[in-house]
Amino acid sequence: MVVAKLKDINYKYPLAEGYALKDVNFEFEAGKFYGLIGENGGGKTTLCNLIRGLIPHFYNGELTGEAVVFDTDIKEHNAEELAVRIGYVFQNPFNQMSGIKSTVFEEIAMGLENLGIEKEEIIERVSGVCELLGIEELMTKNPNELSGGQRQRVAFAAIIVMDNDMLVIDEPTSQLDPHGTEMVFEIIRKLKDSGKTIVLVEHKIDLIAEYCDEVLVMDKGHIVCSGKTQDILSRKELLDYDAQIPQVAIWGHEMAEAGKPLSYIPITVEQAVELARERGVR
Ligand SMILES: Nc1ncnc2c1ncn2[C@@H]1O[C@H](COP(=O)(O)OP(=O)(O)OP(=O)(O)O)[C@@H](O)[C@H]1O
Ligand SMILES: [Mg+2]
Repeated sequence: MVVAKLKDINYKYPLAEGYALKDVNFEFEAGKFYGLIGENGGGKTTLCNLIRGLIPHFYNGELTGEAVVFDTDIKEHNAEELAVRIGYVFQNPFNQMSGIKSTVFEEIAMGLENLGIEKEEIIERVSGVCELLGIEELMTKNPNELSGGQRQRVAFAAIIVMDNDMLVIDEPTSQLDPHGTEMVFEIIRKLKDSGKTIVLVEHKIDLIAEYCDEVLVMDKGHIVCSGKTQDILSRKELLDYDAQIPQVAIWGHEMAEAGKPLSYIPITVEQAVELARERGVR
């Protein structure tokens, strides 16, 4: 089942000179975990803004083509309805805090409160999510007193507590250390395993390689290539678009250039270890 279909999309922000999205065509399928990568300014956040309906409902500008999300044209969607179906974790966690709640608990509970959910259920759901994210000790703190990494987790908690069908997550780990980053990826994997569709913007290529089903590469507003993670992240051409590929894939290409090709180009360390073993390297 297709959850978001983008056809011949071109988009220009108000007052911008150039187009932020150009000839974008893609279909996102239900239950898959998509990684969105590419150079700075390539259009990743803009694509998220479109799927989430912030374009055209919040950002005006010039939009052509057809964007159908959950079977309704994005232009026809009601913003609140869409917010129930799609959760959006913004690139900058500082933008995501409401600024009107005095505790982290209230901050995370706010979306559920707005839906008129019973108090007991709110407490249960917020506590469950805080446990999942390991932030129980933050529940009574003031959101303004949190560090960048803590805010990022709270912003993430406030989204997953909503239990949306689809999650659009823009660089959720930029403020986190390697341990916190791995934890966020594990949680996203659990959300995917529970049937949710995930679109994740992330620069940490080794984690994209390990976790995502499919990858889209953006460059100057275009989706320059897309497909299964193994196929895309093993392509050396990605470097031409200033996108990264895993270090082990570079090693695979170097081996081929040296006349000693591996049976395939690895994208994860486990694959590289296995290929090295095949070669009798210890
Ligand atoms: N609100 C805005 N108004 C005008 N132009 C914008 C706006 N937001 C982004 N742009 C422009 O649109 C283009 C795409 O930007 P976008 O933020 O989508 O890129 P990105 O791939 O998310 O980059 P990054 O990796 O730096 O987050 C850029 O040229 C950017 O300058
Ligand atoms: Mg961005």
